[in-house]
Amino acid sequence: MTPEAMIPQTVLPQGATVNGQGHLVIGGCDTLDLADEFGTPVYILDEESLRQKCRRFVQEFQKRHPATQVVYASKAYINPALAKIFAEEGLGLDVVSGGELALAKSVDFPLDQVYFHGNNKSPQELAEAVENNIGWVVLDSFHELEILNAIAGDAGKIQNVLIRVSPGIDPHTHAHTTTGILDSKFGFSIQTGHAAQAIRQTLQAANLSLRGLHFHLGSPIFELEPYRAAVDLVIRFASEFREDGLELKEFSPGGGFAIAYTRDQEPPDVGEYAEAIVSTMISTCQELSMPLPRLIIEPGRSIIGPAGVALYRVGTIKDIPGVRRYVSVDGGMGDNIRPALYQAVYEVIAAGKADQKPSRKVTIAGKYCESGDLLATDIMLPEMETGDIIAIPAAGAYCPSMASNYNLNPRPPMVLVRNGESRLIRRRESYQDMMHCDVV
Ligand code: LLP
Repeated sequence: MTPEAMIPQTVLPQGATVNGQGHLVIGGCDTLDLADEFGTPVYILDEESLRQKCRRFVQEFQKRHPATQVVYASKAYINPALAKIFAEEGLGLDVVSGGELALAKSVDFPLDQVYFHGNNKSPQELAEAVENNIGWVVLDSFHELEILNAIAGDAGKIQNVLIRVSPGIDPHTHAHTTTGILDSKFGFSIQTGHAAQAIRQTLQAANLSLRGLHFHLGSPIFELEPYRAAVDLVIRFASEFREDGLELKEFSPGGGFAIAYTRDQEPPDVGEYAEAIVSTMISTCQELSMPLPRLIIEPGRSIIGPAGVALYRVGTIKDIPGVRRYVSVDGGMGDNIRPALYQAVYEVIAAGKADQKPSRKVTIAGKYCESGDLLATDIMLPEMETGDIIAIPAAGAYCPSMASNYNLNPRPPMVLVRNGESRLIRRRESYQDMMHCDVV
């Protein structure tokens, strides 16, 4: 077997390879050199993978429906350097807080391309949205509808809005990441009649312009059928309000597109998601004689997830005879809460021994003071020693963005790699950074 064949290509950034020393190479950079230069833990992002994925979304959707806007879901991970890349690729932004909006503003991201989501936006956040003339607010509650109408009125503006409906369709993902079902804190349920009431009330609101409907089923969604079913159901639902004055100018089926975390997973390709969504939208609209709306899709994980690889250094190795071998690394649940929170499973690569056969069953433990802080349980790796580097692929989404300073560990740096060159886009936090806001 060639060394390349030994690494799980489907979960790694494009072009990942193994060099003559048996080291994992990403974006043309030796991961061991990156670990030495930037320290560990560190998150590496492959710029080419990131940009190519943005382009794939734009191309696959626009070739089927030219009036499609691809909007990056910032919650998956955003920082100023990345926001600039997304702007260069022509993507809009989905923000869910005043903080994400402020970040977009800090790099002059075109704010008319920003969508503000969230089930409990504060009056201050809504005021910031209106003040900054952001593109759309996605209404999520009656409370918000009233506040936003008043804020826009006070500012003498008409705010574009979408209404988030909950179609009651289960996408069969983790309970913590399922959103479009009846029992959800998100959106207005179609089933209860609240969505109908929200549409009528928004159409009456003097300072809101209702542009269309949005739904988001959950994440990650490995099946196409939930998208087809929900697109059909929500467009049919929208058509019931034509006499009330609802024109579906815009329609957003959210994000949630899956990625492979492990070598045995085969999520649909971007083109398959695009086909399922666009063909359903077109056929349902045609059947109902509705003009085709502009389509807005909101991928987060699928854009940044596969581009990211976390690197850690092995410290303590502890054997419990007949039970388990714990290989501890210098990061863990503080930079990747997903295994503890969602029982997420990742591949692990011995980055300096990528050409060696796995020979030993180990559990990768983090350094946090929690028994549940395990990054991977009972996996096979080559013989690991203190000082070795391990790589966890598919780590770009929802790891750095959900990172914490638990146990007062500094959050890791982020490094962009491309054509053998590396660029620091976020430095490692210092102890001082962590105490910055404390008042003695
Ligand atoms: N649009 C809306 C309205 C959303 O709520 C989300 C994700 C997205 C788009 C983007 O979904 P994506 O394409 O990234 O799957 N922390 C969890 C995922 C939470 C997703 C929250 N909403 C995880 O680590 O799996």
